[in-house]
Amino acid sequence: MKKLLIISAIGCLLMGFTLQKESPVYTTSQDPLKESIERGAEVYTEYCVQCHLGKGEGIPKTFPPLAKSDWLTKNNITNAIRVVKYGQTGEIKVNGETYNGVMAALGLYEDEVADVMNYILNSWGNSHDEMVTEEHVKKVTKE
Ligand code: HEC
Repeated sequence: MKKLLIISAIGCLLMGFTLQKESPVYTTSQDPLKESIERGAEVYTEYCVQCHLGKGEGIPKTFPPLAKSDWLTKNNITNAIRVVKYGQTGEIKVNGETYNGVMAALGLYEDEVADVMNYILNSWGNSHDEMVTEEHVKKVTKE
């Protein structure tokens, strides 16, 4: 019994020591873009997937693709934020295909718009160096 107590006491000491040693790692491993993309994936599943589909491929002539969309990746990011924030109607050309449909405003919070933007800009072969921030989304007006 005594032996067991000593062993567990040593165990506790060792555990305390290793926990103390490892704790600074948690504060340095944060990656804001990666975290935003992870939150954005959830927003996408809830609000976008039913039209733009699971791999951002869309439906030809009905819902434009987001994956490798020239409109999205070659366009001014502010325009894409405007679509996600306020919706989009009227003619729009994506990868050579003309769309003339309606995407209603989805009523997302500004931080959700930033997160889902980071997700779609960095998924399915898309990549975008600069992180979209909530501050950028706040500045985008309806036109
Ligand atoms: C009800 C269906 C629907 C939903 C839900 C929807 N969209 Fe769209 N989206 C469309 C349609 C339709 C267009 C093209 C509108 C047009 O023809 O002017 C479009 C256009 C776009 C475009 C610009 C064109 C392109 O393909 O690059 C982006 C970016 C976009 N949507 C992102 C999103 C994101 C992000 C969400 C979720 C937050 C979302 N959409 C939810 C239907 C939808």
